[in-house]
Amino acid sequence: MRFHVLTLFPEMIENVVNTSIIGRAIKQDHIEVDTVNIRDYSANKHMRVDDYPYGGGAGMVMEAEPVYRAMQKVNEKLGSKPRTVYLTPQGKVLNQTMVEEFAQCEDLILLCGHYEGIDERVLEETVTDYVSIGDYVLTGGELGAVVMIDAISRFVPGVLSNEESSQFESLQDNLLEYPHYTRPEVWHEKKVPEVLLCGDHKKIESWRYEQSVKRTRERRPDLLAKSCRMYGAYIGEEQVTELANRFTDEISRYGESMDLNRKKLRKQRFEFSKKDLLLLFLDKKAFAADMDPVIGHNFTGKHTPCVVFWAGKSSEDENIAGLLERLERRGFLILHIFCEVLDPERFDSRREALRVRQMLEKRKM
Ligand code: ADE
Repeated sequence: MRFHVLTLFPEMIENVVNTSIIGRAIKQDHIEVDTVNIRDYSANKHMRVDDYPYGGGAGMVMEAEPVYRAMQKVNEKLGSKPRTVYLTPQGKVLNQTMVEEFAQCEDLILLCGHYEGIDERVLEETVTDYVSIGDYVLTGGELGAVVMIDAISRFVPGVLSNEESSQFESLQDNLLEYPHYTRPEVWHEKKVPEVLLCGDHKKIESWRYEQSVKRTRERRPDLLAKSCRMYGAYIGEEQVTELANRFTDEISRYGESMDLNRKKLRKQRFEFSKKDLLLLFLDKKAFAADMDPVIGHNFTGKHTPCVVFWAGKSSEDENIAGLLERLERRGFLILHIFCEVLDPERFDSRREALRVRQMLEKRKM
């Protein structure tokens, strides 16, 4: 992935990105960070890039032309117009889903303003996204740009070593991390929680989940309101099982898989709340084996959002249409039906998980 930073202070970017993990990623060619000095594109013999604001008032405004020329230079070099972010406190506040979304880009332009800002007209013509890194005002966009480069690069394959990357990012499911401990077992008379020493992975997992929820409730109740528990239920052939498990692992650290091929589970009744998300994976065999009544009759929701992955071509397909109707009658809100994605060759669980996360985020706004 390549970042192109348009700035009046290139050294501010370079000094940060050439160190530590991001510096290593650049050296190893996993990412590229090009800085473009806007001043080099000044139309003025004194290389001035700012002027007084029309209408009066304090401070200076960056002129449109140098920014436009610098931008054109980048676009010409690339032969395309990549997504262009203007760092500003007026932008959408950056979060992990946005970071993951930007990480899908091959090229990303980051435009840093200074003084009172940039002439509005060039922003209208060139900027695709307005991003803030938090509700406070900085002296310029450079620190925002390096924050974005750092957070986005973590998603670029190869940037983090196995040890550095946890398969799951804590904020991806809107829960904070549980507390961590290492040796010694007792420090300042404080003992490591007993459960972590018991060796029972199921117990440890559920303790960690409780701790994550507790911590999020105490420290970030706004995030907790956005989090939901994911249930990946699947019926069908082995391929579906594999994809469902892969997807459930990808979308949430605490996701639960429900194999409805198993008789025991088919007999059970399941009640879901509006804080759950039901992910249904269905192939055609599921219907041939007459298993669709299982979900339609044994599942009850309470305004429970539901996303369906259906092997068939269309959501109007008779098989699936009946089931969806029944699910809606039984308290589920069908958020989306992904058709024709259950192909192991083509299924990109990371991309699909991001799509579901984006969908959830839009719904909660
Ligand atoms: N420029 C000035 N303040 C900023 C902020 N909070 N986020 C991004 N860019 C900025």
